[in-house]
Amino acid sequence: MMMLEAILWSVAAGAALGVPLRAHTLTCEGMAGTVHTNEPSPRLSWLIESETRGTAQTAYQVHAATSVALLESGKPDLWDSGKVASRQSYLIPYGGRRLRSGEPSFWRVRVWDNYGGSSPFSATAEWRSGLHSTNDWGAKWITAATSADFSKSAPAPYLRKAFDLPKKSIARATLRASARGLYVPFLNGRRVGADSFTPGWTDYNRRIQYQTYDVTDRVMSGPNAIGMVLGDGWYCGHVCWFGRNQYGSFPEGLARLTVEYDDGKQDVIVSDGSWKGSAGPILASDMLMGEAYDARREHGSWSESTFDDSKWLPVLAAGSLGHVPIVPQPCEPVRAWKELAPVSFKKDKNGAWVFDLGQNLVGWARLKLSAPAGAEIHLRFAEVLNADGTIYVTNLRSAKQTDTYVAKGAGEETWEPLFTFHGFRYVEVAGLAGEPTSETITGIAAGSDLEQTGLLETSNPLLNQLQHNIWWGMRGNYLEVPTDCPQRDERLGWMGDAQIFAATATFNANVLPFLTKWVTDVADAQTPDGAFPNVAPQSIGLGDGAPAWADAGTIVPWTLYLRYGDARILDRHFGNMAKYVRMIEAANPDLLWRNRSSHNFGDWLSIEADTPRPVLATSYFAHSAWIVSRSAEITGRTDDARAFKKLFEEIRKAFNKAYVKPDGRIEGDTQTLYVLALRFDLLSAENRKRAARFLVEDIQKRKGHLSTGFVGCGHILPALTEAGENDLAYELLLKETFPSWLYSVKRGATTIWERWDGWTEEKGFQDPGMNSFNHYAFGSVGDWMYRVIGGIEPGPPPSPSGSSSGGGQGGRGPGAPGYQSFLLRPRPGGGLTWARASLLSPYGRIVSSWRIEGDVFEYTVEVPPNSTAVAWIPAASEDVTESGKPARSVDGVRYSSFGKGHATYELGSGKYVFRSKLR
Ligand code: BGC
Repeated sequence: MMMLEAILWSVAAGAALGVPLRAHTLTCEGMAGTVHTNEPSPRLSWLIESETRGTAQTAYQVHAATSVALLESGKPDLWDSGKVASRQSYLIPYGGRRLRSGEPSFWRVRVWDNYGGSSPFSATAEWRSGLHSTNDWGAKWITAATSADFSKSAPAPYLRKAFDLPKKSIARATLRASARGLYVPFLNGRRVGADSFTPGWTDYNRRIQYQTYDVTDRVMSGPNAIGMVLGDGWYCGHVCWFGRNQYGSFPEGLARLTVEYDDGKQDVIVSDGSWKGSAGPILASDMLMGEAYDARREHGSWSESTFDDSKWLPVLAAGSLGHVPIVPQPCEPVRAWKELAPVSFKKDKNGAWVFDLGQNLVGWARLKLSAPAGAEIHLRFAEVLNADGTIYVTNLRSAKQTDTYVAKGAGEETWEPLFTFHGFRYVEVAGLAGEPTSETITGIAAGSDLEQTGLLETSNPLLNQLQHNIWWGMRGNYLEVPTDCPQRDERLGWMGDAQIFAATATFNANVLPFLTKWVTDVADAQTPDGAFPNVAPQSIGLGDGAPAWADAGTIVPWTLYLRYGDARILDRHFGNMAKYVRMIEAANPDLLWRNRSSHNFGDWLSIEADTPRPVLATSYFAHSAWIVSRSAEITGRTDDARAFKKLFEEIRKAFNKAYVKPDGRIEGDTQTLYVLALRFDLLSAENRKRAARFLVEDIQKRKGHLSTGFVGCGHILPALTEAGENDLAYELLLKETFPSWLYSVKRGATTIWERWDGWTEEKGFQDPGMNSFNHYAFGSVGDWMYRVIGGIEPGPPPSPSGSSSGGGQGGRGPGAPGYQSFLLRPRPGGGLTWARASLLSPYGRIVSSWRIEGDVFEYTVEVPPNSTAVAWIPAASEDVTESGKPARSVDGVRYSSFGKGHATYELGSGKYVFRSKLR
């Protein structure tokens, strides 16, 4: 975090004048490092550095080669793009021949700019093709022979094989591995990599992911050993409340170790019947229930070549790999990202010790202790405490999230589980012999290893805590799939939560690979006739998706397009999106979405407001039709664009006829309905004004409180701001009384609560049947916070009518998505005196930092090379300066207009400091 803060905030670091033009930070499919992908034309991106204002790329040249030597000697045998006149520096499809199975590609790029400058070639980056087909594995699914009863978690299989390598110089060794279940790989006595819960969660009947590790420095000539431990995970452990064995009944591992020598030959060690297996110390492991570990059963050096495995049994090897594609994981795996020391620990009334980590988190605990052999320690995990200081676990429903450790009695012992995670702030430790120390428990926070890209800070500490809560909620719940919550027996990829939060997520982290993978999970779960699910990966029993849940199938790809400029995802999923909308149309000939919405959740968890479900449903039907028409336009499907635009207009007409009364009131008359109708552009100009007025009146009637649930919460502040009611938007955001965002913050929340009334003074805890303290959906306000407080407003800019925002999910206006052109448009309010926002965009760092002193507005901004911005500067007059000079006459700043309390300027790349007078 410290490092990231330095990158995101430091304004002048490295800013020495005369830094020459260069291309750096090369990525493939949105990821840094060696990327493994089966994309035939993976997309390549880079950032540009230049200290000269107004720098834009005018051309690029990419070289790709099968070896570093060829690349560096100027012989790009895979691809020489030639000098391409283009501003594009993000997501350029590789244009060389398709790589062979497992083949590497080394690449670099040079760029030209609008000042006639050119860069040298960048540093070299690498991507590798995955194995093209399951036949390329030559390996078998294996597991330990056992007589276990698979209706409950069985001891985790330990698998191993010793092998010899010839006395030859090793050029490279690569381990590819997967599991039906979970696996942790080992080589020569040590764990390989630091990934958790691999191979990750997909519908294992549709696709299974694998991971690739460079293990060149882990193998040697002579004796070696490879090993794997398997866990149940999503594959055969508990998923939600559906019970165990959703995809299979026991875990199996798959491995292929390729050792390439300098002489061009290679050896391959694969998982097959020659491996040996045994049970070990992990007696049971389950993501919801927890892990039980008996250290007395450890095998010691079991993954070393010297280990005596004569008592282990030959493994069971499956006859064939099956028909399910086994694909390289296209996004970041889960990893531990932070360790937390307890802020306190106390004995509770039952004699157990309760550790407080000071932060609600997703992950597990590391236990450190000295205890006699056979001593049993039980760890239970909870998000909150009862009034008497004991842990509150009723809201976990059937999830036990309990770990058990049996000591081996060998002095200091340290343990952490491999195959389970919990949602918790408090750890109850029972069975300790003596007094614990602050080192007895360490909290380990884990999640999909997303690159943090955004920071937002303001002069209001409560808002900063809210932003903190949003970030922590996202970091933990973005675990393999965007989950609803991490603690109770649920933890599913609920689509409604995912769609409402997606825009916020794009500010906090680079979620392009993560959500792109998840959109594939959504597509995998679509029914043949077009229905998107409620949760993805699909699990049993949750049927056709509800309005605003199923619509994640159109909204999430659209959001990724707006925020990353990725049109490929629209192109790839266009057929699914169109089919979905046509399915609703076919089931509802009058265009009011009432059929095929059997699981309609309405405006889930709204408060004292009842939004009629068909009205909400029809709003989303219209919105999805609109997204499909825009997607068709963007991907060059002219006829579809026209047809879906027409459908959108017809749904809009039907909506107005059925649900909008002559006085402009929408049937149901709730905040959420007005907000959706405004944001989804469902009303005539006159009724827009009325809708805004009804919305304002409803909020006033509630003394400045909201009534929105999951569906309305992310749209209410944007709708108010767009309707010219920015002050009221701030009032809602800053409200401290219930229901409000700051209500939970004032009560010490460190993540976003599932419900506005998760706990209240009057009623205490809400119904434990549904009361999570770590659910990010209401955190969807974060998008507005970055855009309106922070002032980073992604393109495209708002349309001239101002009818819908360019930055939110509306995205109606023309312009360049993905931040090649964007707005810098802070709209201060709520008594804030300063705010600063920063975002590592696809073009580099954007900074938007403002401060009000007296009547002076000071605005420091940074526009990354190869992008442009329009800055809207609050100003009472045209008397605006940049770095002390009249802004109109400064290099790199082009005056655009003045009016309605702000001056606007077009900016090329660079750093600028504006000052204006507010009065
Ligand atoms: C989940 C939600 C989800 C909802 C559907 C709940 O149990 O936790 O977040 O969206 O069901 O209404």
